[in-house]
Amino acid sequence: MTGSGSAVPAIFLDNQGLTELVDTSDEWITTRTGIRQRRLAEAGESLTELSTVASRKAIARAGITPQDLDLIILATSSPDDLFGSACQIQAELAASKAVAFDLTAACSGFVFGLVTAAQYIRTGAYENVLLIGADILSRWVDWQDRGTCILFGDGAGAVVLQANSCDHLLGFELKSDGTQYNYLTLAYSPESTDLIQGVNVGKGNFQPIAMNGKEVYRFAVQKVPEVIDKALFSANLSVDQIDWLLLHQANQRIIDAVRERLNIPEHKVISNLANYGNTSAASIPIALDEAVQEGKIKPGNIIVTAGFGAGLSWGAVIFQWGR
Ligand code: COA
Repeated sequence: MTGSGSAVPAIFLDNQGLTELVDTSDEWITTRTGIRQRRLAEAGESLTELSTVASRKAIARAGITPQDLDLIILATSSPDDLFGSACQIQAELAASKAVAFDLTAACSGFVFGLVTAAQYIRTGAYENVLLIGADILSRWVDWQDRGTCILFGDGAGAVVLQANSCDHLLGFELKSDGTQYNYLTLAYSPESTDLIQGVNVGKGNFQPIAMNGKEVYRFAVQKVPEVIDKALFSANLSVDQIDWLLLHQANQRIIDAVRERLNIPEHKVISNLANYGNTSAASIPIALDEAVQEGKIKPGNIIVTAGFGAGLSWGAVIFQWGR
């Protein structure tokens, strides 16, 4: 990974603002989640725009041009167009050589995308890959549901991955369990419509995000340490060789519980969810980019990252930052 960038909307909503919408308090949200405010995209703001801004920064910092890109992967669950938004980003960037597609794995999207991108590089098929994690879940939140509306925020993060004589993806472990699908959904609900006699189609709408918070919490705290352990094993690394723990920014209590289970010291944890909430596929690359720009993450540092969420899906990747 040779460059990172991020972009978030200008508008923010703090916990106090949420009390005007639902029966909650800053104190409740802060103690249960660690979140203090989130950025929200305005109606006219698109996922493509946010992703393009983040991508331009990542490309420039990698020292390449958009024309050098072979592949663009957009990890998102909230594209501007259900057919996908990656091609629009390709056009905005004028990355004429790059093939572009969307990848949907909810809050695990960036981690799944990282492994996908690395496979193309390992096989020698592509040299320069742009991976974006972006979501505007505010479009799909039920702003009357205090169990979910307090959690989510909008944003985009991007990284450039480049072929290198030494492989910087040190280990990974990805998992899915569709039997627990119901715990976190943004589901299409068909409405039966008669076209002509005997021909009936389901013409409906997507329903807002619905979540069983307790079960998702339990799932994350149990499963994330397991995949991290497996990824460490496949990388042949011990936990004390890790420089940074960078988890999907869903909830500070989840981050703390995973860190404790893995016995990783607090100063190695990257967390910025207080300012952004859960930005889904964007949370890891936004936090990564901030830590790189602040000079925390340095070339050669070993980072363990893990995503988890709807699907249910979860996974961990161990990688080395820089050239
Ligand atoms: N403000 C105030 N009170 C709230 C509230 C809110 N926003 N949301 C729920 N409550 C109330 C509940 O109604 C309940 O009240 P009761 O005891 O009178 O019935 C009480 O607080 C406890 O609710 P509960 O749902 O058990 O809270 P919790 O401790 O499980 O915390 C979450 C809720 C959502 C913060 C927590 O379950 C969580 O973080 N889960 C993981 C979610 C996640 O990260 N999802 C994304 C994964 S990608």
